[in-house]
Amino acid sequence: MKSGLSDLMTIGIPAILFGMLALGMMVHRELGPFVGLTPEGKWLLTVALGMGILAFVLKLGVAQLLVQSPENTIDRLTHTDFLHQARADSDKGDFLNPAPNRPRQYVWATLPTTAPEPADNPGTLAKIALGKHLFNEKQLSGDASLSCASCHDLYEKAGSDARRTAIGIANQVGARNVPTIWNAAFQSVLFWDGRVPSLEAQAKGPILNPIEMGMSTPAEAERRLNADPTYRARFALAFGEGQAITFERIVQAIAAYERTLITADTPYDRYVRGESTALNQAQLRGMALFEAVGCVLCHRGPNFSDASLLDGETPLRFFPANPTPYDEKYKLLTESGERGVWRVPSLRNVALTGPWLHNGSVDKLDEVVRIMASAQLGRSTQLMTWLNKDSALDKVDRSPLSDRDIHDIVAFLESLSSDGLRKKMAPTTP
Ligand code: HEC
Ligand code: HEC
Repeated sequence: MKSGLSDLMTIGIPAILFGMLALGMMVHRELGPFVGLTPEGKWLLTVALGMGILAFVLKLGVAQLLVQSPENTIDRLTHTDFLHQARADSDKGDFLNPAPNRPRQYVWATLPTTAPEPADNPGTLAKIALGKHLFNEKQLSGDASLSCASCHDLYEKAGSDARRTAIGIANQVGARNVPTIWNAAFQSVLFWDGRVPSLEAQAKGPILNPIEMGMSTPAEAERRLNADPTYRARFALAFGEGQAITFERIVQAIAAYERTLITADTPYDRYVRGESTALNQAQLRGMALFEAVGCVLCHRGPNFSDASLLDGETPLRFFPANPTPYDEKYKLLTESGERGVWRVPSLRNVALTGPWLHNGSVDKLDEVVRIMASAQLGRSTQLMTWLNKDSALDKVDRSPLSDRDIHDIVAFLESLSSDGLRKKMAPTTP
């Protein structure tokens, strides 16, 4: 922002002075004698031509100021004005609503308090209770040291582990950040790369993964639970008398439990339900920006993800979509140096689940928003950056978001945190 103006000063002003000098010399040495101008005539002509240069410079200056302070334009509008304006703008193109069967106006929605469930695994109370036990069961790991809850700490860590990447049995370090499992029940595909289609299919992964829970075989998991009479009784209650303890039923019970992990108790949901004071000014402005700059292109719908069972259409996206210096800084590209294809994550409780991104490389939420704005929305290159490091003119592009914009979007993201979880975490969060 500041650098844009000083670029204008350091390169622009000498260029103008040089231009005026050249003009003066041209009029006095070449043009003047050729057409026989008097000394006064020479001055007049110099000034007349000089005005052209000045007018051009003035235009550049005004354009630069407009580009640099979008917040000044926004300031004078109330939140509702701004939202109306943003919605009217989005109506002009299909940018925000690329799918033809979607309403053109973006609709803010609250999260349902029950999640969709597959027909072959209804969540009965007995099954959900069994699933909760299994979720906390360390016997499901090879050396009986880890349960699902070890990495997905539901209350202290909002369903994640507050680490950069996961730590499995025997302290093995994983490659990926642990996503929260709160509201995972609404996602149409799971894992950072969206490689599994259901919670049932997902739960098999970590139990057998050698660097996570490291269970040798499904049969070994079944054998261990079978040896425990309380589990035999719980399985009988959940699946019927005489039904065997199978690996399939273990993951069914865990999935049924996970479908109850829903946080619709956020300031955002209260606001959408009509409690107009639930969000403060910064959050309201952040909410409008979240829509206006295009975050809703991917983080859309009640679970803030297009990978949604509710109305998701394009679950996977390139990330980073545009090359930026962040690629290098946070190692965002795949091992082969390409942009990856990732599932659009939900942003519910995102303020509580740092560090962020698939590799857990970013510690600050405002930095994640900056990365998103530039890598996913092209809000990075200044309209008038004169020279980049390769001494070429930069391409004309959309301006980066201002610090205030970023601050307000972060404030809005904070309003997606569950009231209940926030209270539980309050003592440990700074
Ligand atoms: C060693 C740590 C660890 C343990 C133990 C663990 N997980 Fe995970 N979990 C992860 C990591 C890391 C990911 C992301 C992996 C990826 O995307 O490739 C993940 C992803 C998930 C997801 C997907 C969430 C989403 O939004 O995509 C669910 C659901 C989940 N785990 C449930 C479980 C269950 C159920 C168990 C126990 C059976 C379990 N996890 C055990 C580390 C762990
Ligand atoms: C083109 C699609 C797209 C757009 C537009 C987009 N995002 Fe994202 N967002 C993603 C994807 C994909 C990821 C997962 C990145 C990864 O795998 O590390 C993500 C990740 C995130 C995360 C980190 C989630 C976590 O748990 O680590 C946040 C926060 C976020 N986005 C916020 C935003 C905001 C705010 C905007 C608007 C300024 C935005 N996104 C625009 C696709 C998008």
